[in-house]
Amino acid sequence: MSMYHLADKGVEYAQKAISADKAGDYETAIKYYKIAIDFFSKYLVLYPDAPLADFYKELVVKYKQRVSYLEKILADRAREPAVGDNGSGAPQSNTSQVDPGLFEILTPDQRPRKTFNDLVDLEGVKRALKRSVIYPVRDPSLYPLGWPKGILLFGPPGCGKTEITLALANEVNAILINVSPANIVSKWLGDTEKNVKALFKIAREYALKGTPVIIFIDEVDALFQQYSVEVGGEKRGRNQFLIEMDGLASKEHAKIPLFVIGATNKPWNLDIGFIRRFERRIYVPPPTREVRKQLFEYYTKKLAERFILESIDYDKLAELTEGYSSSDIVSIVKEVQNNIVEEINEKGLKPSDRKIRTEDFIEVIKTHKPSIDSKLLEVYKEWNKQYGTYSEEQ
Ligand SMILES: Nc1ncnc2c1ncn2[C@@H]1O[C@H](COP(=O)(O)OP(=O)(O)OP(=O)(O)O)[C@@H](O)[C@H]1O
Ligand SMILES: [Mg+2]
Repeated sequence: MSMYHLADKGVEYAQKAISADKAGDYETAIKYYKIAIDFFSKYLVLYPDAPLADFYKELVVKYKQRVSYLEKILADRAREPAVGDNGSGAPQSNTSQVDPGLFEILTPDQRPRKTFNDLVDLEGVKRALKRSVIYPVRDPSLYPLGWPKGILLFGPPGCGKTEITLALANEVNAILINVSPANIVSKWLGDTEKNVKALFKIAREYALKGTPVIIFIDEVDALFQQYSVEVGGEKRGRNQFLIEMDGLASKEHAKIPLFVIGATNKPWNLDIGFIRRFERRIYVPPPTREVRKQLFEYYTKKLAERFILESIDYDKLAELTEGYSSSDIVSIVKEVQNNIVEEINEKGLKPSDRKIRTEDFIEVIKTHKPSIDSKLLEVYKEWNKQYGTYSEEQ
Protein backbone atom coordinates (compact mmCIF):
# COMPACT_ATOMS: atom_id res chain seq x y z
CA MET A 1 0.00 0.00 0.00
CA SER A 2 1.46 3.36 -0.91
CA MET A 3 1.78 6.25 1.47
CA TYR A 4 -1.02 7.94 -0.41
CA HIS A 5 -3.47 5.11 0.07
CA LEU A 6 -4.93 6.48 3.29
CA ALA A 7 -5.34 9.92 1.84
CA ASP A 8 -6.87 8.49 -1.34
CA LYS A 9 -9.36 6.52 0.67
CA GLY A 10 -10.17 9.64 2.64
CA VAL A 11 -10.87 11.51 -0.56
CA GLU A 12 -12.99 8.66 -1.88
CA TYR A 13 -15.20 8.67 1.22
CA ALA A 14 -15.32 12.44 1.37
CA GLN A 15 -16.74 12.42 -2.16
CA LYS A 16 -19.37 9.88 -1.17
CA ALA A 17 -20.20 11.99 1.88
CA ILE A 18 -20.58 15.12 -0.16
CA SER A 19 -22.94 13.49 -2.66
CA ALA A 20 -25.08 12.09 0.14
CA ASP A 21 -25.02 15.48 1.83
CA LYS A 22 -26.19 17.18 -1.36
CA ALA A 23 -28.91 14.60 -1.78
CA GLY A 24 -30.15 15.36 1.72
CA ASP A 25 -29.29 11.90 3.05
CA TYR A 26 -27.62 13.25 6.17
CA GLU A 27 -27.24 9.97 7.99
CA THR A 28 -25.21 8.49 5.16
CA ALA A 29 -23.29 11.71 4.77
CA ILE A 30 -22.35 11.69 8.46
CA LYS A 31 -21.22 8.08 8.21
CA TYR A 32 -18.98 8.77 5.22
CA TYR A 33 -17.61 12.02 6.60
CA LYS A 34 -16.56 10.13 9.71
CA ILE A 35 -14.83 7.45 7.65
CA ALA A 36 -13.06 10.14 5.63
CA ILE A 37 -11.99 11.88 8.85
CA ASP A 38 -10.68 8.57 10.14
CA PHE A 39 -8.56 8.00 7.03
CA PHE A 40 -7.20 11.54 7.00
CA SER A 41 -6.43 11.37 10.73
CA LYS A 42 -4.45 8.15 10.29
CA TYR A 43 -2.63 9.72 7.38
CA LEU A 44 -1.76 12.73 9.49
CA VAL A 45 -0.44 10.58 12.33
CA LEU A 46 1.86 8.81 9.89
CA TYR A 47 2.86 11.73 7.72
CA PRO A 48 2.53 14.92 9.74
CA ASP A 49 5.03 16.62 7.45
CA ALA A 50 3.60 15.49 4.12
CA PRO A 51 3.27 18.29 1.55
CA LEU A 52 -0.52 18.17 1.71
CA ALA A 53 -0.76 17.70 5.49
CA ASP A 54 -2.12 21.17 6.11
CA PHE A 55 -4.69 20.75 3.43
CA TYR A 56 -5.92 17.49 4.97
CA LYS A 57 -5.94 19.05 8.42
CA GLU A 58 -8.24 21.73 7.10
CA LEU A 59 -10.47 19.14 5.51
CA VAL A 60 -10.69 17.26 8.80
CA VAL A 61 -11.74 20.41 10.63
CA LYS A 62 -14.24 21.25 7.93
CA TYR A 63 -15.77 17.79 7.85
CA LYS A 64 -16.01 17.67 11.62
CA GLN A 65 -17.91 20.92 11.59
CA ARG A 66 -20.19 19.57 8.93
CA VAL A 67 -20.79 16.38 10.93
CA SER A 68 -21.66 18.45 14.00
CA TYR A 69 -24.03 20.56 11.99
CA LEU A 70 -25.77 17.61 10.34
CA GLU A 71 -26.04 15.74 13.63
CA LYS A 72 -27.69 18.76 15.13
CA ILE A 73 -30.20 18.89 12.31
CA LEU A 74 -31.00 15.21 12.79
CA ALA A 75 -31.28 15.65 16.53
CA ASP A 76 -33.68 18.56 16.13
CA ARG A 77 -35.76 16.53 13.72
CA ALA A 78 -35.88 13.64 16.16
CA ARG A 79 -37.21 15.99 18.83
CA GLU A 80 -40.01 17.35 16.69
CA PRO A 81 -43.28 15.55 17.32
CA ALA A 82 -44.16 13.24 14.46
CA VAL A 83 -47.21 14.03 12.33
CA GLY A 84 -50.26 12.55 13.99
CA ASP A 85 -48.66 12.81 17.40
CA ASN A 86 -50.93 14.35 19.98
CA GLY A 87 -48.45 17.19 20.13
CA SER A 88 -48.42 17.25 23.89
CA GLY A 89 -44.65 17.47 23.79
CA ALA A 90 -44.45 14.97 26.64
CA PRO A 91 -40.88 14.36 27.73
CA GLN A 92 -39.23 11.16 26.64
CA SER A 93 -39.92 8.45 29.13
CA ASN A 94 -36.33 7.83 30.18
CA THR A 95 -35.38 11.34 31.14
CA SER A 96 -36.18 11.06 34.79
CA GLN A 97 -34.34 7.87 35.63
CA VAL A 98 -31.15 6.13 34.69
CA ASP A 99 -31.52 3.74 31.84
CA PRO A 100 -30.85 0.26 33.22
CA GLY A 101 -29.44 -0.89 29.87
CA LEU A 102 -26.74 1.70 30.07
CA PHE A 103 -24.29 -0.41 31.96
CA GLU A 104 -23.89 -3.88 33.30
CA ILE A 105 -22.50 -4.53 36.77
CA LEU A 106 -20.66 -7.84 37.08
CA THR A 107 -19.38 -9.18 40.36
CA PRO A 108 -16.53 -11.72 40.24
CA ASP A 109 -18.88 -14.72 40.46
CA GLN A 110 -20.93 -13.47 37.51
CA ARG A 111 -18.20 -13.81 34.92
CA PRO A 112 -15.66 -16.31 33.54
CA ARG A 113 -12.79 -16.99 35.91
CA LYS A 114 -10.01 -16.17 33.45
CA THR A 115 -6.88 -14.56 34.85
CA PHE A 116 -3.60 -13.33 33.40
CA ASN A 117 -2.31 -16.90 33.22
CA ASP A 118 -5.05 -17.78 30.73
CA LEU A 119 -3.66 -15.27 28.28
CA VAL A 120 -0.63 -16.10 26.21
CA ASP A 121 2.22 -13.59 26.48
CA LEU A 122 1.10 -9.92 26.53
CA GLU A 123 3.85 -9.60 29.12
CA GLY A 124 4.40 -5.89 28.58
CA VAL A 125 0.69 -5.21 28.99
CA LYS A 126 0.43 -7.39 32.09
CA ARG A 127 3.36 -5.58 33.64
CA ALA A 128 1.85 -2.20 32.83
CA LEU A 129 -1.46 -3.27 34.39
CA LYS A 130 0.25 -4.60 37.50
CA ARG A 131 1.87 -1.23 37.96
CA SER A 132 -1.30 0.66 37.13
CA VAL A 133 -3.92 -1.39 38.96
CA ILE A 134 -2.81 -4.50 40.81
CA TYR A 135 -0.16 -2.96 43.07
CA PRO A 136 -2.23 0.10 44.00
CA VAL A 137 -5.18 -2.14 44.89
CA ARG A 138 -2.97 -4.46 46.90
CA ASP A 139 -1.60 -1.69 49.11
CA PRO A 140 -2.82 1.85 48.53
CA SER A 141 -0.70 3.07 51.45
CA LEU A 142 2.40 2.64 49.31
CA TYR A 143 1.17 5.47 47.12
CA PRO A 144 1.33 8.70 49.09
CA LEU A 145 1.20 10.51 45.77
CA GLY A 146 -1.85 8.60 44.56
CA TRP A 147 -2.03 6.90 41.20
CA PRO A 148 -3.73 7.49 37.85
CA LYS A 149 -7.29 6.24 37.57
CA GLY A 150 -7.71 6.36 33.81
CA ILE A 151 -6.15 3.71 31.60
CA LEU A 152 -6.45 3.44 27.86
CA LEU A 153 -5.74 0.16 26.08
CA PHE A 154 -5.20 0.64 22.39
CA GLY A 155 -4.10 -1.56 19.53
CA PRO A 156 -5.30 -3.53 16.54
CA PRO A 157 -8.52 -5.54 16.75
CA GLY A 158 -8.55 -9.05 18.11
CA CYS A 159 -5.31 -8.87 20.09
CA GLY A 160 -6.61 -9.10 23.64
CA LYS A 161 -7.75 -5.69 24.88
CA THR A 162 -11.13 -6.90 26.08
CA GLU A 163 -9.83 -10.23 27.35
CA ILE A 164 -7.04 -8.72 29.38
CA THR A 165 -9.42 -6.28 31.04
CA LEU A 166 -11.69 -9.14 32.09
CA ALA A 167 -8.65 -11.04 33.37
CA LEU A 168 -7.46 -7.95 35.24
CA ALA A 169 -10.83 -7.61 36.94
CA ASN A 170 -10.45 -11.18 38.20
CA GLU A 171 -6.88 -10.60 39.29
CA VAL A 172 -8.07 -7.92 41.71
CA ASN A 173 -11.53 -9.35 42.38
CA ALA A 174 -13.07 -6.18 41.13
CA ILE A 175 -16.61 -5.31 40.36
CA LEU A 176 -16.67 -4.74 36.65
CA ILE A 177 -19.00 -2.13 35.27
CA ASN A 178 -19.33 -2.62 31.54
CA VAL A 179 -20.43 0.48 29.76
CA SER A 180 -21.84 -0.17 26.33
CA PRO A 181 -21.12 2.63 23.88
CA ALA A 182 -23.91 1.50 21.61
CA ASN A 183 -26.44 2.08 24.37
CA ILE A 184 -25.00 5.36 25.41
CA VAL A 185 -24.83 6.60 21.87
CA SER A 186 -28.42 5.74 21.19
CA LYS A 187 -29.43 7.57 24.33
CA TRP A 188 -26.95 10.33 23.66
CA LEU A 189 -29.56 12.93 23.03
CA GLY A 190 -31.46 12.13 26.16
CA ASP A 191 -29.74 12.33 29.46
CA THR A 192 -26.16 11.42 29.05
CA GLU A 193 -25.01 13.84 31.67
CA LYS A 194 -27.27 12.26 34.26
CA ASN A 195 -26.28 8.76 33.16
CA VAL A 196 -22.60 9.52 33.43
CA LYS A 197 -23.15 10.96 36.90
CA ALA A 198 -25.07 7.85 37.95
CA LEU A 199 -22.36 5.58 36.58
CA PHE A 200 -19.64 7.23 38.60
CA LYS A 201 -21.84 7.50 41.66
CA ILE A 202 -22.47 3.75 41.71
CA ALA A 203 -18.81 3.04 41.07
CA ARG A 204 -17.70 5.36 43.88
CA GLU A 205 -20.15 3.81 46.32
CA TYR A 206 -18.54 0.41 45.87
CA ALA A 207 -15.02 1.76 45.82
CA LEU A 208 -15.49 3.88 48.94
CA LYS A 209 -16.33 0.67 50.78
CA GLY A 210 -13.00 -0.72 49.64
CA THR A 211 -14.21 -2.95 46.82
CA PRO A 212 -12.09 -2.52 43.70
CA VAL A 213 -14.13 -1.27 40.78
CA ILE A 214 -13.27 -1.17 37.11
CA ILE A 215 -15.43 0.89 34.83
CA PHE A 216 -14.78 -0.61 31.42
CA ILE A 217 -15.68 1.36 28.34
CA ASP A 218 -15.02 -0.88 25.40
CA GLU A 219 -14.68 0.89 22.05
CA VAL A 220 -14.36 4.12 23.91
CA ASP A 221 -13.72 6.00 20.66
CA ALA A 222 -17.38 5.54 19.81
CA LEU A 223 -18.22 7.75 22.78
CA PHE A 224 -15.47 10.24 22.87
CA GLN A 225 -14.31 10.96 19.43
CA GLN A 226 -12.64 14.10 18.30
CA TYR A 227 -15.51 15.59 16.43
CA SER A 228 -16.87 17.81 19.13
CA VAL A 229 -20.49 17.49 18.32
CA GLU A 230 -22.29 20.51 19.55
CA VAL A 231 -25.56 18.81 20.28
CA GLY A 232 -26.27 19.99 23.82
CA GLY A 233 -26.91 16.61 25.41
CA GLU A 234 -23.81 15.02 24.07
CA LYS A 235 -21.55 17.90 24.92
CA ARG A 236 -22.81 17.95 28.48
CA GLY A 237 -22.29 14.19 28.65
CA ARG A 238 -18.69 14.53 27.61
CA ASN A 239 -18.07 17.37 29.97
CA GLN A 240 -19.60 15.43 32.81
CA PHE A 241 -17.28 12.55 32.03
CA LEU A 242 -14.29 14.85 32.19
CA ILE A 243 -15.52 16.31 35.46
CA GLU A 244 -15.95 12.83 36.93
CA MET A 245 -12.48 11.79 35.80
CA ASP A 246 -11.02 14.90 37.36
CA GLY A 247 -12.98 14.14 40.53
CA LEU A 248 -11.27 10.76 40.75
CA ALA A 249 -7.93 12.50 40.58
CA SER A 250 -8.89 14.79 43.48
CA LYS A 251 -7.39 14.41 46.93
CA GLU A 252 -10.63 13.10 48.35
CA HIS A 253 -10.64 10.12 46.01
CA ALA A 254 -6.91 9.67 45.61
CA LYS A 255 -6.87 6.34 47.41
CA ILE A 256 -10.10 4.68 46.36
CA PRO A 257 -9.69 1.55 44.23
CA LEU A 258 -11.61 2.81 41.23
CA PHE A 259 -10.29 2.60 37.69
CA VAL A 260 -11.69 3.67 34.37
CA ILE A 261 -10.38 1.54 31.55
CA GLY A 262 -11.12 2.46 27.98
CA ALA A 263 -10.29 0.21 25.04
CA THR A 264 -10.05 1.29 21.45
CA ASN A 265 -8.63 0.27 18.13
CA LYS A 266 -8.96 3.81 16.82
CA PRO A 267 -7.04 5.90 19.33
CA TRP A 268 -6.48 8.66 16.78
CA ASN A 269 -10.17 9.41 16.91
CA LEU A 270 -10.04 10.35 20.58
CA ASP A 271 -10.39 13.88 21.70
CA ILE A 272 -7.25 15.27 23.34
CA GLY A 273 -9.21 16.06 26.51
CA PHE A 274 -9.98 12.38 26.92
CA ILE A 275 -6.52 11.26 25.97
CA ARG A 276 -5.19 13.40 28.80
CA ARG A 277 -7.59 11.95 31.37
CA PHE A 278 -6.50 8.42 30.49
CA GLU A 279 -3.10 9.03 31.94
CA ARG A 280 -1.82 5.51 31.34
CA ARG A 281 -1.97 4.62 27.68
CA ILE A 282 -0.96 1.06 27.02
CA TYR A 283 -0.35 -0.46 23.62
CA VAL A 284 -1.71 -3.97 23.22
CA PRO A 285 0.41 -5.20 20.32
CA PRO A 286 -0.36 -7.91 17.79
CA PRO A 287 1.30 -11.27 18.41
CA THR A 288 4.90 -11.63 17.25
CA ARG A 289 5.96 -14.80 15.48
CA GLU A 290 7.01 -16.38 18.77
CA VAL A 291 3.70 -15.46 20.39
CA ARG A 292 1.73 -16.78 17.43
CA LYS A 293 3.53 -20.06 17.92
CA GLN A 294 2.50 -20.07 21.57
CA LEU A 295 -1.09 -19.20 20.65
CA PHE A 296 -1.27 -22.14 18.24
CA GLU A 297 0.18 -24.42 20.90
CA TYR A 298 -2.17 -23.11 23.55
CA TYR A 299 -5.36 -23.61 21.58
CA THR A 300 -4.28 -26.80 19.83
CA LYS A 301 -3.50 -28.35 23.20
CA LYS A 302 -7.19 -28.08 23.96
CA LEU A 303 -7.94 -30.13 20.84
CA ALA A 304 -5.63 -32.81 22.20
CA GLU A 305 -8.19 -33.44 24.93
CA ARG A 306 -10.29 -35.21 22.32
CA PHE A 307 -8.12 -35.85 19.28
CA ILE A 308 -4.73 -37.32 18.54
CA LEU A 309 -2.21 -34.80 17.31
CA GLU A 310 0.59 -35.75 14.99
CA SER A 311 3.71 -33.75 15.66
CA ILE A 312 2.56 -30.30 14.62
CA ASP A 313 5.07 -27.88 13.11
CA TYR A 314 4.15 -24.85 15.17
CA ASP A 315 7.07 -22.84 13.85
CA LYS A 316 5.72 -23.27 10.37
CA LEU A 317 2.23 -22.14 11.44
CA ALA A 318 3.69 -19.08 13.12
CA GLU A 319 5.70 -18.27 10.04
CA LEU A 320 2.64 -18.51 7.80
CA THR A 321 0.56 -16.19 9.94
CA GLU A 322 2.35 -12.85 9.80
CA GLY A 323 -0.30 -10.17 10.17
CA TYR A 324 -2.80 -12.49 11.87
CA SER A 325 -4.32 -11.34 15.14
CA SER A 326 -4.75 -13.55 18.20
CA SER A 327 -8.39 -13.72 17.35
CA ASP A 328 -7.53 -14.89 13.79
CA ILE A 329 -5.48 -17.70 15.28
CA VAL A 330 -8.29 -18.77 17.59
CA SER A 331 -10.59 -18.85 14.53
CA ILE A 332 -8.12 -20.96 12.56
CA VAL A 333 -7.80 -23.57 15.29
CA LYS A 334 -11.57 -23.66 15.70
CA GLU A 335 -11.98 -24.15 11.97
CA VAL A 336 -9.53 -27.07 12.06
CA GLN A 337 -11.68 -28.60 14.77
CA ASN A 338 -14.84 -28.10 12.69
CA ASN A 339 -13.25 -29.61 9.60
CA ILE A 340 -12.14 -32.67 11.52
CA VAL A 341 -15.53 -33.15 13.13
CA GLU A 342 -17.19 -32.86 9.75
CA GLU A 343 -14.86 -35.46 8.30
CA ILE A 344 -15.44 -37.84 11.17
CA ASN A 345 -19.18 -37.52 10.72
CA GLU A 346 -19.18 -37.74 6.95
CA LYS A 347 -16.88 -40.76 6.85
CA GLY A 348 -18.24 -42.46 9.93
CA LEU A 349 -14.87 -42.41 11.73
CA LYS A 350 -13.94 -42.50 15.40
CA PRO A 351 -12.05 -39.45 16.72
CA SER A 352 -8.99 -41.61 17.21
CA ASP A 353 -9.04 -42.61 13.54
CA ARG A 354 -8.35 -39.13 12.34
CA LYS A 355 -5.12 -37.60 13.57
CA ILE A 356 -4.67 -33.86 13.34
CA ARG A 357 -1.74 -32.81 11.15
CA THR A 358 0.11 -29.62 10.31
CA GLU A 359 -1.50 -29.77 6.87
CA ASP A 360 -4.95 -29.39 8.43
CA PHE A 361 -3.89 -26.02 9.78
CA ILE A 362 -2.18 -24.93 6.59
CA GLU A 363 -5.33 -25.61 4.58
CA VAL A 364 -7.35 -23.37 6.85
CA ILE A 365 -4.72 -20.64 6.94
CA LYS A 366 -4.87 -20.47 3.14
CA THR A 367 -8.54 -19.56 3.26
CA HIS A 368 -8.30 -17.11 6.19
CA LYS A 369 -7.00 -13.65 5.49
CA PRO A 370 -4.92 -11.82 8.11
CA SER A 371 -6.89 -9.03 9.72
CA ILE A 372 -4.01 -6.71 10.54
CA ASP A 373 -2.84 -4.39 7.82
CA SER A 374 0.87 -3.59 8.07
CA LYS A 375 0.24 0.04 7.19
CA LEU A 376 -2.24 0.29 10.03
CA LEU A 377 0.35 -1.14 12.39
CA GLU A 378 2.60 1.78 11.61
CA VAL A 379 -0.19 4.12 12.60
CA TYR A 380 -0.52 2.38 15.98
CA LYS A 381 3.22 2.46 16.53
CA GLU A 382 3.40 6.12 15.67
CA TRP A 383 0.46 6.93 17.92
CA ASN A 384 2.13 4.89 20.65
CA LYS A 385 5.31 6.89 20.20
CA GLN A 386 3.38 10.13 20.50
CA TYR A 387 0.99 9.25 23.31
CA GLY A 388 1.83 5.81 24.71
CA THR A 389 2.90 5.63 28.35
CA TYR A 390 5.10 2.59 28.00
CA SER A 391 6.16 2.97 24.40
CA GLU A 392 9.75 2.11 25.17
CA GLU A 393 8.77 -1.23 26.67
CA GLN A 394 6.78 -2.62 23.79
N1 LIG B 1 -2.93 -13.32 24.62
C1 LIG B 1 -3.96 -14.09 24.29
N2 LIG B 1 -3.99 -15.39 24.67
C2 LIG B 1 -5.02 -16.17 24.35
N3 LIG B 1 -6.09 -15.76 23.65
C3 LIG B 1 -6.11 -14.48 23.24
C4 LIG B 1 -5.06 -13.58 23.53
N4 LIG B 1 -5.34 -12.38 23.03
C5 LIG B 1 -6.54 -12.50 22.43
N5 LIG B 1 -7.00 -13.76 22.55
C6 LIG B 1 -8.26 -14.25 22.01
O1 LIG B 1 -8.54 -13.53 20.85
C7 LIG B 1 -9.90 -13.11 20.81
C8 LIG B 1 -10.00 -11.61 20.69
O2 LIG B 1 -9.53 -10.97 21.86
P1 LIG B 1 -10.20 -9.62 22.36
O3 LIG B 1 -11.64 -9.65 22.14
O4 LIG B 1 -9.71 -9.36 23.73
O5 LIG B 1 -9.52 -8.60 21.36
P2 LIG B 1 -9.66 -7.01 21.33
O6 LIG B 1 -8.27 -6.48 21.30
O7 LIG B 1 -10.55 -6.56 22.43
O8 LIG B 1 -10.32 -6.77 19.93
P3 LIG B 1 -11.29 -5.55 19.44
O9 LIG B 1 -10.39 -4.38 19.23
O10 LIG B 1 -11.82 -6.11 18.16
O11 LIG B 1 -12.30 -5.36 20.49
C9 LIG B 1 -10.54 -13.69 22.06
O12 LIG B 1 -11.15 -14.89 21.72
C10 LIG B 1 -9.38 -13.95 22.97
O13 LIG B 1 -9.64 -15.00 23.82
MG1 LIG C 1 -12.48 -5.74 22.36
